Amino acid sequence: MARQKQASGSKKTDRKSRSLKVADTIDELKNELGSTGPAEVDNEAYWRAVRAQFPYNGSIRYTNNGTIGILPHMVLQAQIATLKEAEVQDGDTGGVTYPAPHEAHEKLAALINADPSEVAVTRNSTESMNIIALGLDLKPEDEILTTTHEHYGGWSCWQNRNALFGNPIRKLDLYDPPEDEDELVRLFEEAIRPETRVLSFCHVTCTTAWRLPVRKICAMARKRGLITVIDGAQSVGMIGVDVKDLGGDFYVSSTHKWLFTPKGTGLLYVDDSAQEHIGLGYYTHGGRLTARRFENNASQSYAPLVGFAMAVDFHNAIGTPLIEDRGAAMAGWLKTRLSDIPGVRVWTPMSRSLSASMVSFSIAGMTSSDVGTPLRERFGIHSRGLYEGGYHGARISCAMHNSYDEMEQVASAVSEIAANRC
Ligand SMILES: Cc1ncc(COP(=O)(O)O)c(C=O)c1O
Repeated sequence: MARQKQASGSKKTDRKSRSLKVADTIDELKNELGSTGPAEVDNEAYWRAVRAQFPYNGSIRYTNNGTIGILPHMVLQAQIATLKEAEVQDGDTGGVTYPAPHEAHEKLAALINADPSEVAVTRNSTESMNIIALGLDLKPEDEILTTTHEHYGGWSCWQNRNALFGNPIRKLDLYDPPEDEDELVRLFEEAIRPETRVLSFCHVTCTTAWRLPVRKICAMARKRGLITVIDGAQSVGMIGVDVKDLGGDFYVSSTHKWLFTPKGTGLLYVDDSAQEHIGLGYYTHGGRLTARRFENNASQSYAPLVGFAMAVDFHNAIGTPLIEDRGAAMAGWLKTRLSDIPGVRVWTPMSRSLSASMVSFSIAGMTSSDVGTPLRERFGIHSRGLYEGGYHGARISCAMHNSYDEMEQVASAVSEIAANRC
């Protein structure tokens, strides 16, 4: 409630303030943000200036960033300019100078503490997961252990592996798991069998929005001689990701979600020590095995890579810790509000270390579409239904462009839907 007062109090201040500027460059963005006061989680003027960089038409409450992000104006413009430049000019495409595409790799690698040679820009998590699953050097009897919380994009790759090479797959049931990191690690460890060779799991689950203790799970898995594959579709850009600290072999992400890179761009990280676990890609770069061999280095549009580099600059102009703290604060506020509504069960833990910027909940007796359809059709709120792992309900994203006003509207809509359920 204190948070609510603070948010609506700051709104009044915002109304009095000058009109918000849509920045074309990073310098303009920094000036604009700098003119709003301190870069702090609770400075609503700052976050309104951030929101102004995104193309909102005012009628949509877009709280489904976890499915797909919306491009900041400058990232879209950078792409459009590159597309225009790349097309035939004076009857010739040969003279066009493309902006350096390697910037995308370098900036992405720096963001996640990887070497650029360990990073490939793919199209999304699904593609990256398939590259790993189909390329891993495994015996047909080697088992893949994954969980009941995987998104189809992090799961279908193992079905493909099974169909092509016969590797057995088993799912660890994580329904309503213990809210204790060590107990969670123990659950994973107890599920390992002698034939298990690969452990594949999410950093932040798409179902209950749990942040799993990746570093501890990877350390345990390494001791057991397993290959670890982490589906970070819901993490890069939302929370700090340091792949060296996490210690996994492979890490993928759909950066088009929380890092706001162009649609059709994502991450494949292959740790230097894991390059030999996986076979050839499109290019070998002089024989040295790097992640770049899995990237489309052939003729293509450079516009997404140019937009990608700018999206990382956009993110860095605000900074990972501030973005992570803002999302956690907003999600924490929403969790508290939703938990107070009779009939609502919030599945996302309150604990900061086990959660991030999304909130999942169910309403007793209602299916996912019972909740999501009225949210969208009656209240204009875009959420994501819960389908995997045996849950029913909805997931709300608290992205940097969302406001407390929107979260207030989510809470009151859920309250009304819950009160009117049969
Ligand atoms: C955990 C997880 N993995 C994979 C995916 C698939 O992402 P994409 O469609 O970008 O490949 C999603 C999408 O929401 C996801 O949440």
